Amino acid sequence: MNEIPDKKDQNSMKLMFNKISKNYDLINNLMTFFLQKPIKSRALSGLSSNLENILDICTGTGDIAIMLAKKYPSANITAIDFSPEMLKIAKEKANEHKIRFIEGNALNLPFSDNSFDVCTISFGLRNLPDKNAALKEIFRVLKTGGELLIIDLGKPKNKWLYPLILDKAVPFIGEIINGDKIPYKYLIESQKDYPSPQEISKLLQTEGFSDIKNTDFLFGSISSIIAQKP
Ligand SMILES: C[S@@+](CC[C@H](N)C(=O)[O-])C[C@H]1O[C@@H](n2cnc3c(N)ncnc32)[C@H](O)[C@@H]1O
Repeated sequence: MNEIPDKKDQNSMKLMFNKISKNYDLINNLMTFFLQKPIKSRALSGLSSNLENILDICTGTGDIAIMLAKKYPSANITAIDFSPEMLKIAKEKANEHKIRFIEGNALNLPFSDNSFDVCTISFGLRNLPDKNAALKEIFRVLKTGGELLIIDLGKPKNKWLYPLILDKAVPFIGEIINGDKIPYKYLIESQKDYPSPQEISKLLQTEGFSDIKNTDFLFGSISSIIAQKP
């Protein structure tokens, strides 16, 4: 890749995610010191029990969808992503778990109103060009009383953490493993642009969500938010 893609150019974004799909899990694990799975699992533990229909948006290589399938074995799990290469890996990883994988855009979810008890979006919202539109779409497909879980990068108070990990280590690891540092430069830019958990909470309120709870992980470098459709 020659330049950092513009989020509004959904085709370039899709190409970038296709390109990093093969090494996505490995680089993610290295970047988070292998803590990303335990963090995701902790974040999921905040959700209600007794769920029937769950949607994982921007599922990528399917970690969250697979964790949900293990945690809620009788639930119908649907997972959506616009990158066919990410989905290919997710399907291989899902193996015997019954997950319905769909290729589609988070900004135009191919589901009827009031379909899901829970929607999850992990490290996905940051990549969407219009956060309000994305949250509106999630609100639409959630049932009344349904919950949204957002996991994404936070804003650590410690000023040395991100410059060290994101600015230096991530492009270095990305270039060595993936042979291209542009997607990892994109990651840095996307973190800088991404609103703080407090700002995301305000967006959620604007879109009609209530009962908003925020949890920080890794000194605030990762944050999870659970909100309800009242
Ligand atoms: C950083 S990955 C996160 C993957 C996974 N959820 C996780 O927690 O590791 C972001 C994913 O969002 C997908 N994505 C980005 N924009 C999208 C869009 N507009 N519609 C659907 N998927 C999108 C990408 O293809 C990619 O798989």
